[in-house]
Amino acid sequence: EKGLKDYYDGYFPIGVAVAPRSLEGQSKELILEQFNSMTPENVMKMGEIHPEQNRYYWEAADKIAEFAREHDMKMRGHALVWHQQTGDWIFKAEDGGQVSKEELLQRMKTHIDSVVSRYKGTIYAWDVVNEAISDNPEEFLRNSPWYEIAGEDFLVKAFEYAHEADPEAKLFYNDYNAVIPEKRERIYKLLKLLKDKGAPIDGVGIQAHWSIFDPSEKDLREAIDKYSSLGLDVQITELDVSLYPWEKERRELREGESDEFTPEMEQRQIESYDMFFKVFRDYKDVLTGVTFWNVSDNYSWLDHYPVEGRKNYPLLFDENYEPKKAYWKVVEFDEKN
Ligand code: G3I
Repeated sequence: EKGLKDYYDGYFPIGVAVAPRSLEGQSKELILEQFNSMTPENVMKMGEIHPEQNRYYWEAADKIAEFAREHDMKMRGHALVWHQQTGDWIFKAEDGGQVSKEELLQRMKTHIDSVVSRYKGTIYAWDVVNEAISDNPEEFLRNSPWYEIAGEDFLVKAFEYAHEADPEAKLFYNDYNAVIPEKRERIYKLLKLLKDKGAPIDGVGIQAHWSIFDPSEKDLREAIDKYSSLGLDVQITELDVSLYPWEKERRELREGESDEFTPEMEQRQIESYDMFFKVFRDYKDVLTGVTFWNVSDNYSWLDHYPVEGRKNYPLLFDENYEPKKAYWKVVEFDEKN
């Protein structure tokens, strides 16, 4: 039977974010039928794979890498340098105080070396730096411990170290809200800065945690145009289409609200997916990958965020791993090849 990867053969690989447990049972069958690329959702993050200075936990990541090799799938690595899920040790000096800049960069190098080298030949693209732009539109870079201790240098160095560890790997900067014009401009500024400083960067990842309300087609096209004008590959790295508008500070269901998947929501979701994939197809020469963030509506990180326990239905497959109507819309087009 044909899957997304077959319909989009000649366009771009279709990826999926997975946990080791996704590689079993019905989820495994669906992955093999539909996708030709994988990203580990969590297990390659520093806090999981390298939670203490001299301790690495390779098992979960190895399992995914092994599956990718066995089934001839592409694999993206996620994420080398991020402000979340780092493990506390990385910023702490021996005496309990804050680590020096030199020591932090050394630790970062060791981390990048070990992880990138281990999956050399299996991982073709790495999210080297994730989400380094501030959430405050008035600011440029996020005031994370990375930035606080090492300034802008950590950004360029991260790319250099990753390139040294695997000169063949495609190296990405990855971020969310990347098609909102004001943040797009700040991301563009960072990409330009990296290029000007000679950082070996190959591409930009648009995370694409979108919703049935946004982004607009215009913003999406303008963002892809703007990023690709720098000569960078563009990938959609974490696609899902939430049923709810993003309200960052929201943590609870409101009185009288339910979390059902109504026909109205379904219709809007079909239209959103339809529009997004039309645009993606138009940009097939610039887009080198489209990855969904989770396998099916059976489990999505959005079931827990921003409102814990509010069920969401953001993907193309339902809770029983069956294609939704939105799926049929996405695969219904005149193939150009
Ligand atoms: O592993 C523990 C488990 O032992 C514990 O019982 C459980 C109880 O809370 O927590 C588990 O850890 C959770 C982990 O996911 C694994 O399921 C963390 O609490 C939870 O915070 C973590 O969330 C992940 C999140 O990144 C972390 O910030 C999501 O699964 C993951 O989908 C999400 O992915 C990010 C990308 O990496 C970067 N872009 C945004 C995207 C969505 O936030």
